[in-house]
Amino acid sequence: MAHQRVLVTGAAGFIGNAFLRRLLETDADVQAMTLDALTYAGHRENLEDLPGAARHVFRQGDVASAEDVAAAFAAFQPDAVVHLAAETHVDRSILDPAPFMRTNVHGTQVLLDACRAAGIRMVLVSTDEVYGDREDGTAATPDSPLRPSNPYAATKAAGDLLALAAHRTHGQDVLVTRCTNNFGPRQTPEKLIPLMTLRAQAGKRLPIYGDGLQRRDWLHGDDHADGLLAALARGAPGRVYQFAGGRGRTNLAIVQAILALAGGAPTQIEHVGDRPGHDRYYALDDAATRAELAWAPTRDFEPALEATVAWYLANPAWCRAVAGEGLRTFLEANYEARGPA
Ligand code: NAD
Ligand code: DAU
Repeated sequence: MAHQRVLVTGAAGFIGNAFLRRLLETDADVQAMTLDALTYAGHRENLEDLPGAARHVFRQGDVASAEDVAAAFAAFQPDAVVHLAAETHVDRSILDPAPFMRTNVHGTQVLLDACRAAGIRMVLVSTDEVYGDREDGTAATPDSPLRPSNPYAATKAAGDLLALAAHRTHGQDVLVTRCTNNFGPRQTPEKLIPLMTLRAQAGKRLPIYGDGLQRRDWLHGDDHADGLLAALARGAPGRVYQFAGGRGRTNLAIVQAILALAGGAPTQIEHVGDRPGHDRYYALDDAATRAELAWAPTRDFEPALEATVAWYLANPAWCRAVAGEGLRTFLEANYEARGPA
């Protein structure tokens, strides 16, 4: 079913923004509202030069505030919600889990309640981190146990369970999506790829947590966005859909590739104290989703990484604009918390 009035939460952030852009450019009839609190990770710059901008409206508001959500629903009258607003950085959740509880747990329930009252579909965007470490090398299916390892992942798992409970209890039209690590333009430079790109170019040290042999599976944000469009249009209520890139890479290999692309020196690499509870390996089995939603990623990793690194290097104004005090203070606290490897 084609939804005509889609409320997207968190679209001033990275993946929400990629999704909003794909939504507006692939459906010429759709109207979209962004609801975003503009935290340190939400950037007004991301909402400039949108395709189909005349069909988009921005509203600043907090998903954990029932009043803000009710006002957004009253103003926009959505017929579906795609919920991406979240606190998303694992290291921050270790330093202070409180905003994660508020946004990822309470905020998700507030939106579930609003969608149920309005009788509309909600897509909850979640993560492979809810399954925790796949140390045995197997890919998680939607039936695998949830064993989150850090506060961020635990709050995402709580949100997923609230959504699935709303379906079971109320028959609510809600579905959950889980995805592996995303990369691409407009990601706040606290996450591995943009952070290492900018530090490599600036000749700064590149802090690798522990041995750097942890593996992540990487999917381009636009491929994830296409999966979310498919889930919104064709997904079944109560289901969990999974999106993956299909091949894990070590953090060290990623950073070495970035160094080569951004023109840094290997001596910049510095092994530092590991992230507490650091998951070694994530992997998702997305075979059922590919079949059911007719979705598959279309971007090869190496050229997409090259284009991503090039995007950050070609957009210094964006990088300066998003690197506010909140980001600088966190990065200093994060590195101070780490001793040598
Ligand atoms: P992000 O940190 O880049 O952006 C989050 C956005 O949410 C920001 O615009 C921020 O202002 C907004 N926000 C935060 N708290 C809010 C609140 N209380 N009310 C309204 N807006 C609020 O996030 P991202 O990396 O784009 O992740 C988006 C979603 O995708 C999250 O739910 C995340 O768990 C999930 N996810 C991310 C990845 C990844 O690799 N980044 C992978 C899988 C799933
Ligand atoms: O797997 C999906 C998840 O991917 C999402 O749910 C999260 O929202 C998103 O932040 C991301 O989590 P990660 O913890 O995997 O991403 P991050 O970029 O923080 O780190 C990627 C890997 O790189 C991880 O193993 C930690 C390591 N790392 C990260 C940073 C920032 C370093 O070694 N050094 C660093 O400075």
